Amino acid sequence: MDIKGVIFDLDGVLVDTARFHYLAWRKLANQLGFDFSEIENEALKGVSRKASLEYLLKLGGLEKNDEEKSELASLKNDWYISLISNLDESVLLPGVMPLIKALKEEGFALALGSASKNAMPVLESTGLIHYLDYIADGNSTEKSKPDPEVFYIAARGIGLSPGECLVVEDSEKGIAAAVEGGFHSLGIGDQEVLGEADFVLASLENITVSELMEKFTVNNI
Ligand code: BG6
Ligand code: MG
Repeated sequence: MDIKGVIFDLDGVLVDTARFHYLAWRKLANQLGFDFSEIENEALKGVSRKASLEYLLKLGGLEKNDEEKSELASLKNDWYISLISNLDESVLLPGVMPLIKALKEEGFALALGSASKNAMPVLESTGLIHYLDYIADGNSTEKSKPDPEVFYIAARGIGLSPGECLVVEDSEKGIAAAVEGGFHSLGIGDQEVLGEADFVLASLENITVSELMEKFTVNNI
């Protein structure tokens, strides 16, 4: 089936904000008395704030009640929000704008499929908002990736079936969600982490729409 739409993850695919999530989680871990490495952080990519906190607490061997959990999640979010408070186009990852513009010009429907509840201000401050036909984010979902819910919502939002959409993701859990949901998938990052994807690229830099789509048609993936 031909690809008619592209569903982009946000953090780590369109914008260089995955590192801000990491910095804020690491600050929280440090405050709670333990360290949190970038390698450990791979497991949190694409995961909702609530589920991420549960993971972090487990890693630190800590138990907290619901009220404490909600305070800790707010603390992390306050730090994250201050890190993204002055974003502009410079936080866009290499190749993103040219590819998005070219996809639009060629008539592809574009959607966001992000776990983040902070997606809107990031889309607005970077100008990405003007190119997206539909936004599915952490405010529209109940289940965290690797559940495909957010991608199903995004596909429905642009009127396409999973088989007609390409999901672009930088996280292992996001690729797992795309595969589980029956989407075509493109991993951005490390082949070792994203090996379940149909294809993996180091970044979106210098890839044309035809080169991208060819990968999926020639191999009939
Ligand atoms: C995902 C990030 O996009 O959003 C995760 O990869 C983050 O690191 C998740 O935890 C939820 O984000 P937020 O902004 O709702 O805390
Ligand atoms: Mg991501």
